[in-house]
Amino acid sequence: MSKVGIVTGGGSGLGQSTALRLAKEGVNIVIVDVDEEGGNETVEILKEAGVDALFVKADVSNAEDVKNYVDQTVEKFGTIDYFFNNAGISGSGKYFLETDISEIEKIVGINLLGVLYGIRYVAEVMVKNGGGSIVNTASSAGVIGQDTVVTYSATKHGIVGLTKSLVAEYAKDGLRINSVAPGPTETPMVKSYFEANPKMKESAESGIPQKRLGTPEEVAELVTFLLTGKAEYINGEVIRIDGGFTNTKF
Ligand SMILES: NC(=O)c1ccc[n+]([C@@H]2O[C@H](COP(=O)([O-])OP(=O)(O)OC[C@H]3O[C@@H](n4cnc5c(N)ncnc54)[C@H](O)[C@@H]3O)[C@@H](O)[C@H]2O)c1
Repeated sequence: MSKVGIVTGGGSGLGQSTALRLAKEGVNIVIVDVDEEGGNETVEILKEAGVDALFVKADVSNAEDVKNYVDQTVEKFGTIDYFFNNAGISGSGKYFLETDISEIEKIVGINLLGVLYGIRYVAEVMVKNGGGSIVNTASSAGVIGQDTVVTYSATKHGIVGLTKSLVAEYAKDGLRINSVAPGPTETPMVKSYFEANPKMKESAESGIPQKRLGTPEEVAELVTFLLTGKAEYINGEVIRIDGGFTNTKF
């Protein structure tokens, strides 16, 4: 029987790459995104790769939308085995005292509440059905402090905390919940930003011990390892994938 996975933010970047990697394992996938075009594009690619896939439009910061994508998954596929809780946004890059309240609310709404709502409804199905595996996307900014990303960093540190605490409550019910903490990774958005600002790319790379950015495929490989049966005894971890970047900051 094929496994069933949900990928939020699956219309682009790390979500899309991970969905495609999971399809190689034969996983049927529900793609969740606010961006209809990107979400439908991923679904087409997944179907071409030979798995069943469904797009559900949702804003993860809206609890009703979240319940709806979970209900639609269960209606179509009967269960949820894997959840890549990944949708997120960055901020304007301003210092905190120059940041509007609306920006703070938006980042917290999507990056933290969206992740909590997702687990609230997905884990309920998983526990009822005997277990499942969840990977949340944190960030380097979730394990170290950095300027210009205070709110983003708060949400990503929050993801690290909720990951550990949920394991304390639900590992006994068959849940595995881990997080990944990527450093700067060449998703389409980051790539086009650096193409327009080559000096920024050089400066970012020079601060990374391996002297290059990560690739979405590398993150997808790690997430797939954590989600699927190969990582059965890994629980509550936050795994950094950043070319050594955060290791040089302690
Ligand atoms: N790319 C990096 O360098 C990097 C590094 C560390 C962490 N991350 C994290 O990885 C995750 C994915 O980022 P990415 O780089 O792939 O970015 P991306 O912009 O390529 O993809 C994010 C996707 O999430 C969707 N999305 C945004 N807001 C949403 C909402 N409210 N509801 C549903 N979907 C929404 C977007 O439409 C987009 O398809 C984010 O949580 C981000 O914080 C990225």
